[in-house]
Amino acid sequence: MYVDELKKIIDADRVTINPTMLEQHSKDESYHTPCLPDAVVFPKTTEEVSRIVAWANERHVPIIPFGVASGMEGQIIPQQGGISLDFQLMNRVLEVKPQDFLVRVQPGVTRMQLNKELKKYGLFFSVDPGADATIGGMAATNASGTTSVRYGIMRDQVRDMEVVLADGRIIHTGSMAAKSSSGYHLNGIFVGSEGTLGVFTELTLKLYGIPEASVTARASFPTVTDAVAAACAVMAAAIPVARMELVDGRSIQQVNRYKGTGYPELSTLFFEFHGNEAGLAHDLAFAQEIVGEHGCSDFISETDSLRQAALWEARHHLAYAFLHGYPGKKAMSTDVCLPLSELAGAIGHARELIEQSGMVGGIVGHIGDGNFHSLLMVQPDSSADIEQAEAINAQIVSYALSRGGTCTGEHGVGLGKAKYQRTEHGAALDVMYAMKQMLDPNNILNPGKIFIF
Ligand code: MLT
Ligand code: ZN
Repeated sequence: MYVDELKKIIDADRVTINPTMLEQHSKDESYHTPCLPDAVVFPKTTEEVSRIVAWANERHVPIIPFGVASGMEGQIIPQQGGISLDFQLMNRVLEVKPQDFLVRVQPGVTRMQLNKELKKYGLFFSVDPGADATIGGMAATNASGTTSVRYGIMRDQVRDMEVVLADGRIIHTGSMAAKSSSGYHLNGIFVGSEGTLGVFTELTLKLYGIPEASVTARASFPTVTDAVAAACAVMAAAIPVARMELVDGRSIQQVNRYKGTGYPELSTLFFEFHGNEAGLAHDLAFAQEIVGEHGCSDFISETDSLRQAALWEARHHLAYAFLHGYPGKKAMSTDVCLPLSELAGAIGHARELIEQSGMVGGIVGHIGDGNFHSLLMVQPDSSADIEQAEAINAQIVSYALSRGGTCTGEHGVGLGKAKYQRTEHGAALDVMYAMKQMLDPNNILNPGKIFIF
């Protein structure tokens, strides 16, 4: 093994082959099979990352960047052994620039840690995928979540990154300027590359001012298609929603069973609006009027922060509710994104597939973006269950692709979506692969992800 060589490049106590540590770095939140790395390394500086990666490139040893393993598609699961490069010691907020609405961070900073720090300045970092996650991991997967309908996805927030290339060179992908027409959009290429093109060691991100006030609302509908139609109508009216989430009736039922709550067991939209009080009252009334025209049977809103949090609970607890309700089972979720005009059809189709299969499952969506997940409960050791869920997911993906959508709106390609890349991208996949070969000729950077040919 090469661990002794590594210990000459970086302090020996930051290189480990401890079995518990290897096991912790073998899995994420996805259903994908865990696989161990050969070693886990904890760098402290960009220069150390550069030395490690350059050495790995010469020795043809895989490098798998690791954040907090909150991913949903197995991006941090090693496929060919190698080094899990854990960024927990590179977790500093380096510089806040309030005048420019910018912050420079190391990749191991988590979004919750960052927002705690930014609160002092009256600022916040907008991307909210639900779970806490490192900024490096969020950039690697182009994370989004509940707020992107208003503030955009991770790709929209990254101004600049410091990236270590496979041969150890250190580059910058952008600048501090709000816009640039200078050359190719490297931020756009590296964000979402899932560790396959380079290793991120610093990121400069765009920030927003904390809104003066916010209001949360919940609206229930007789069918999932009514709820989707209402959501699309709110978008079409250009009401500036800060969050708009769909949770289907089956998922609400599961939350009621788990939490003992009494939410109407109907398809539900959750809204949040940000602004000042006068503007919010107007946005809320307008949204209520529109959802009313689409069959909304129950609408409530809250402005008090504790009551707002309580209102969001059904959305936040649904994954736990399913796991708790079906002990021993795992959730196999998929994630597709379509144009809004195709959404009602896609969600209706997905719901129908779940009903026909007899499987337990729910649908939840970042509906204003056209992005939704199906969540299917499977017995992890049952190949019949896994095959059935995979077949349903494949049909959901193929519906999305046939209507101008994408096989993943936010969870990324990782292991589960690699098989759809050729269908989705055609010859453009060869362009992506040419970039991969040019930047990583020895295929050491997170091998086995995105490309399976
Ligand atoms: C969510 O929207 O809740 C997350 O993307 C995670 C999930 O799909 O389970
Ligand atoms: Zn999501």
